[in-house]
Amino acid sequence: MKGTFPVNKFRELETPFYYYDVNVLRETLSCIHKEAGKYNNFCVHYAVKANANHKVLTIIRESGLGADCVSGGEIRAAIKAGFPTNKIVYAGVGKTDWEINLGLDYDIFCFNVESVPELEIINELAAAKGKTARVAFRINPNVGAHTHANITTGLAENKFGISMEDMDKVIDMAETLPHVKFVGLHFHIGSQILDMGDFVALCNRVNELQEKLYARQIIVEHINVGGGLGIDYSHPNRQAIPNFAEYFATYHKHLKLRPQQTLHFELGRAVVGQCGSLISKVIYIKQGANKQFAILDAGMTDLIRPALYQAYHKIENITSEEPVETYDVVGPICESSDVFGKAIDLNKAHRGDLFALRSAGAYGEIMASAYNCRALPQGYTSEELV
Ligand code: LLP
Repeated sequence: MKGTFPVNKFRELETPFYYYDVNVLRETLSCIHKEAGKYNNFCVHYAVKANANHKVLTIIRESGLGADCVSGGEIRAAIKAGFPTNKIVYAGVGKTDWEINLGLDYDIFCFNVESVPELEIINELAAAKGKTARVAFRINPNVGAHTHANITTGLAENKFGISMEDMDKVIDMAETLPHVKFVGLHFHIGSQILDMGDFVALCNRVNELQEKLYARQIIVEHINVGGGLGIDYSHPNRQAIPNFAEYFATYHKHLKLRPQQTLHFELGRAVVGQCGSLISKVIYIKQGANKQFAILDAGMTDLIRPALYQAYHKIENITSEEPVETYDVVGPICESSDVFGKAIDLNKAHRGDLFALRSAGAYGEIMASAYNCRALPQGYTSEELV
């Protein structure tokens, strides 16, 4: 089964470009609100890093989600799209002074602090402004996730967060710093996680740490478990909406929240992944020695995930119904890794056909580069193309 696309409109546009199906995005958002809304202390933020396209961000903001940012640029993009500053959380191992100052000036909800030196600098910069910064500590829970090695973050070997052993020390230190207020704990174990058992493992670890704190009569206001829920790259049509019911129910069942505590989530891929496709034109069909290549005008500069993570994106020829043939689908970039898929069965392709690379709404457009002096791809929503 192929996706449905306004192919005639596509013909008028310069390729390659990203196409965002607003209906899929809105349905996804309403499912998130419905499922998270079953639990009165759940609070969902959108991880801006997945896609910061202004039109996409605006739709997400309108739905009422908060924003999870990892840079000053993302904080600006979120504010430009209208996210309330008191719903912005800010993580990142290397926050610079101007970025911290930006967060302080906007009185963002919380800095997710990843080291002692960072805590000291936030205290110092807040003091200079006569402010108090709300901080949560990002704890590295040393919990693995069944996903690609490049996108696990919660192992002791990763650069992220403060080790569990140092947690007490850092909390004590925060008590001595007058311009920071310790309000929560933050975790994130990785991305594209489909095994709920990984999230259960995180819940168990958070419960252990909460017990430890409780013994010291410390109850934090906020627990933030990050993002990570995966999408079905193989079936973008059949499984367009991730299983949010199961995801939120898993946390409800396994994470022991104390009364008054709020549980925060930072979902990126699961929000925007399935609404986006990269649309590209076939430049040439080239016969190789023992295979044929479909050479596209999109390359790894437009969608780097296959080259970087060996990621699978379903490819469809959306302008042909001819009998299926087998192709290696490649881009025009001067790199051998500029391959979108090998031995892919597609409706017979000709020069000028349009291909859709599906499930590209997350970490697609935002990771595009100008390598080979190429222009960055545009992004259009279905609402613009009617
Ligand atoms: N919170 C934190 C602290 C994160 O580091 C991330 C993602 C998220 C939330 C959102 O995770 P999500 O819900 O999207 O899984 N470029 C890679 C993914 C990198 C994810 C980085 N951190 C990819 O294309 O697969």
